[in-house]
Amino acid sequence: MSATDAVTFWDGVYAARPAPDAPRPNVRLVETVTGLPSGDALDLGCGSGGDALWLARRGWRVTAVDISGVAAERLAAHARAHGLGDLVDAVRHDLRTSFPAGRYDLVCAHYLHTPFDLDRAAVLRSAAHALRPGGRLLVVDHGSTAPWSWDQDPDVRHPAPGEVAAGLALDPATWRVERAEAPRRTATGPDGRTAEVVDHVLLVRRAG
Ligand SMILES: C[S@@+](CC[C@H](N)C(=O)[O-])C[C@H]1O[C@@H](n2cnc3c(N)ncnc32)[C@H](O)[C@@H]1O
Repeated sequence: MSATDAVTFWDGVYAARPAPDAPRPNVRLVETVTGLPSGDALDLGCGSGGDALWLARRGWRVTAVDISGVAAERLAAHARAHGLGDLVDAVRHDLRTSFPAGRYDLVCAHYLHTPFDLDRAAVLRSAAHALRPGGRLLVVDHGSTAPWSWDQDPDVRHPAPGEVAAGLALDPATWRVERAEAPRRTATGPDGRTAEVVDHVLLVRRAG
C-alpha cells in the first residue's frame, strides 16, 4: 500500500470524529513523567494530542508528529487556543520516510500501530539515538485487542516489551531498560464501553 493510502486512512480516522474538547493524556505517560523535570519532548504518532498538551502544561517543549495532517492541525489549533502555542510544535510527518530532527529529553510513542508498513524498530532506534544523555524513551503498545479496536485480527501478535527492546538492538552500555512490563487497566472506548486491556510498556534510558 502506498504512502498516500496511509495518509488518507489516518486523515479519514480523525476527520470522521469531532475534535475532542479536552484530549486526555495516556495513563502510562502520566505515571512515567510525573515528577520528572521538564525539557524537550518528541511525541511520535501524537494523534489527538492529549499527551503533547499534558506535557506542555507541565512546561515541556513538545514536538508532536503524526502522518495525519488533520490530527496535527487540530492539535496545533488546540494548543494555540489554550495558550500553549509556543510549547507545542505539531507537524505532519511520515515516520516511514524520515525521523524528526533534534535532541530530546523524552521521546514517547503510544500505540504507534498502523495497518501500513512501518519499520517500527528503525523508528524507535532512531528515537533512542535522538535522546540526550539521561533522556528517556517510552514505548507503550497494545498488549491485547480492545473490543473497539480497528484491528480485530484474531491472529494478531502483541510482541512483549522485552521483544520490542531486543528488536532495537541498543548497546546496553549506553541505553538501559528501566521498565519492561505488561500492566492491565480498564479502558473506555469511543462508544463509552469499558474493557480491561493490557499495555506493553518499555522504558529505556540513555546513560547520563
Ligand atoms: C493508534 S494511534 C495512537 C495515537 C496516540 N498516540 C494515542 O495514544 O492516542 C496511531 C497514530 O500513529 C499515527 N501514524 C501511523 N503511521 C504513521 C507514520 N508513518 N508516521 C507518523 N505517524 C503515523 C496515526 O496517524 C495515529 O495517530
